[in-house]
Amino acid sequence: MQFLYCSFQKALLAAPLLFRAIRKKEGRIMKIALCGIGRAGSEVARAVYCRPDMHIVAALCRPESNRAGKDLGELAGMPFCGITAKEISEVENVFREHRIDVVIDFSNPAASRVLLDACRKFGINAVICTTGFSDSELRWMKKIAREKSFGLVYAPNVTVGVNVLMDMARVAAQKIPDYDFEITEIHHRNKKDAPSATAKRIAEAIGRELGLKGEGAVPIHAVRAGGYIGRHEVLIVGEYEKVHIVHESFSRRAFAEGALRAAKFVINKKGWFEMADVLSEPELEAVDMA
Ligand SMILES: NC(=O)c1ccc[n+]([C@@H]2O[C@H](COP(=O)([O-])OP(=O)(O)OC[C@H]3O[C@@H](n4cnc5c(N)ncnc54)[C@H](OP(=O)(O)O)[C@@H]3O)[C@@H](O)[C@H]2O)c1
Repeated sequence: MQFLYCSFQKALLAAPLLFRAIRKKEGRIMKIALCGIGRAGSEVARAVYCRPDMHIVAALCRPESNRAGKDLGELAGMPFCGITAKEISEVENVFREHRIDVVIDFSNPAASRVLLDACRKFGINAVICTTGFSDSELRWMKKIAREKSFGLVYAPNVTVGVNVLMDMARVAAQKIPDYDFEITEIHHRNKKDAPSATAKRIAEAIGRELGLKGEGAVPIHAVRAGGYIGRHEVLIVGEYEKVHIVHESFSRRAFAEGALRAAKFVINKKGWFEMADVLSEPELEAVDMA
């Protein structure tokens, strides 16, 4: 009897410690909101579903989308997960209702603008993977991020591999500037913007090394065909030889993994960042939540 009583007392004393440990562990789970539940957004949902250190707490979709009101699990081809897709017009309510560490956006520029207005107001960090912004939209994004009320990773080129291609193209432009540089990008037939933002970035990087400025200085060929997920090629041709650098994503998981790496990077930061900043830091194993 005495033994049982002591054990019970010890359990009572240990309970707060246990609860604190559980809370601390929960506090380390990154809470993500998803904007855009299309091909890439759904892949992010599936990638997060497999990870113990991250959790999706909200999902936003297009106004009047037939996805609104449906469970994220159903939309992304996963088991029921209790997250109901809400229209982007409800973003401020969503930010009030949930503690969100970072928003991952794979939608369209109109949605990203609404989203970023809310991120700025609520101080919530964002990884913007959407492409197709105009120059003035990009200037606005940079301006609000540099006010430092929140952290923003602008990642039109979110895969790790394509950033390596960009570095290799830059080195080639330094070493063989008299060769001809031609960029080709191939994406699925439904991709709206052409040329891709990544191809433009590659052209800028090469152009900077070659001292060339302006659109078209380094030619880009855009192909929209079938189900191509994403391929970028840089062909560098001299009189008697060529160098051919190719990157191809054969699964949208490459986009999802890059976006999650960017989310971990930006978690405790404020200001404007790009994928080069993300990749210049070693990937964190665990996220230290502020
Ligand atoms: N950074 C990268 O490396 C990278 C990689 C892949 C894709 N992307 C970009 O990410 C974006 C999405 O690509 P995706 O292939 O996933 O396209 P997608 O399958 O067409 O998905 C786009 C999603 O955005 C939603 N959407 C459209 N307008 C919206 C609005 N006003 N508010 C909220 N949501 C809205 C759509 O909703 P409905 O379905 O209801 O219409 C759809 O679910 C594109 O800009 C694409 O270029 C970037």
